[in-house]
Amino acid sequence: MITKCLFPVAGYGTRFLPATKSMPKEMLPIVNKPLVQYGVEEALSAGLTEVTFVTGRGKRAIEDHFDISYELEHQIEGTGKEMYLDGIRHIMQECSFSYIRQREMKGLGHAILTGEKTIGNEAFGVVLADDLCIEQEGDGVMAQMVRLYKQFRCSIVAIEEVPMEEIHRYGVIEGEQIKDGLFQVTRMVEKPKPEDAPSNYAIIGRYILTPDIFDIIRNTPPGANGEIQITDALMKQAQDGCVMAYRFKGRRFDCGSVDGFIEATNYCYDHFYK
Ligand code: UTP
Repeated sequence: MITKCLFPVAGYGTRFLPATKSMPKEMLPIVNKPLVQYGVEEALSAGLTEVTFVTGRGKRAIEDHFDISYELEHQIEGTGKEMYLDGIRHIMQECSFSYIRQREMKGLGHAILTGEKTIGNEAFGVVLADDLCIEQEGDGVMAQMVRLYKQFRCSIVAIEEVPMEEIHRYGVIEGEQIKDGLFQVTRMVEKPKPEDAPSNYAIIGRYILTPDIFDIIRNTPPGANGEIQITDALMKQAQDGCVMAYRFKGRRFDCGSVDGFIEATNYCYDHFYK
């Protein structure tokens, strides 16, 4: 059983400055719900109820969001507005939250290693909340991945086909197809030039990782951009054992970029609020 999920949220969100100068990128709303809440809802629906945020300076708003606001609760008690808090109240009832600071931004691999103390020796999910994943029929992406984990018991990365001109922004896999939409990874490259990319299957912000990844990350030197890359650690794990790449069902929006954020906003407004 996987019950733990890491949310690395320590990044600066520079692409959204000045909005992210004093507000975490993950608190930017898609219509009326912060990005991070969509991510936690997805984790919860996959049964991942023990949530750990790897935070940094200036991220306190995330802690406050997943906590009771007594003044607000008191103010709206008995008014028709209480229902606006139903979703977040449900999450707070079902999930536990812990927070660990990543003191220096040394990359996603390093952020994941920072979460080791709360994860311990068990497999866990990782959600990058700025990749917003919307289920279109059936389960959310994390629930789909948990199901696969139960079958294969190894690390799994979610992948999506992206246009070659965008491939330099992603970790990219090469693999042997096991069945439709599922690959055993043979190679991974972080942020390749289009001519060096082994495929157009890009890794997006959903992972299930087995705990041996921590020792591998500890021994992984900085890679692309001078950061400790989770892709490099996963490559080692794939060489020594097994890593699966899964073409998930659903729709993903890159909300770390302004274009993706606007696209997600329009989509969610049309589908959930109109
Ligand atoms: P990004 O590089 O996309 O996020 O990292 P960013 O740095 O916040 O955004 P820009 O590029 O400056 O606009 C992907 C995810 O990994 C987390 C980020 O918070 C984001 O969710 N991350 C990245 C960390 O938690 N720590 C790090 O050292 C690096």
